[in-house]
Amino acid sequence: MENNIRGGEAPVACQLEADKNYAWCTCGHSDNQPFCNGNHKKEGATPPTIFSVPEAKEAHLCTCKQTSNPPYCDGSHKN
Ligand code: FES
Repeated sequence: MENNIRGGEAPVACQLEADKNYAWCTCGHSDNQPFCNGNHKKEGATPPTIFSVPEAKEAHLCTCKQTSNPPYCDGSHKN
C-alpha cells in the first residue's frame, strides 16, 4: 500500500512465547517495531498480521517490511 513505509533498517530479536498472539506491524508506522501500535489507522496503511508460534523461541522479526517471509527477517533490508 502507498502509505506503508520502512519501519527500520534491521530486524529486532524477540523472545516469543508459545501460543500467544502477536500483531506484527506491516505498515512501518508503529513506534513499537516490530509490533503494531495502531498507527496504521491514522496513516491509512495496512493492518497488522496476527501470528503465534507453537513453541517459545527467539526470532528476528522484520522492521523494513520488505521481507518475503513475514514476520521474519529474510535479509531484504540489505537490498
Ligand atoms: S502500526 Fe503498522 S500495522 Fe499497525
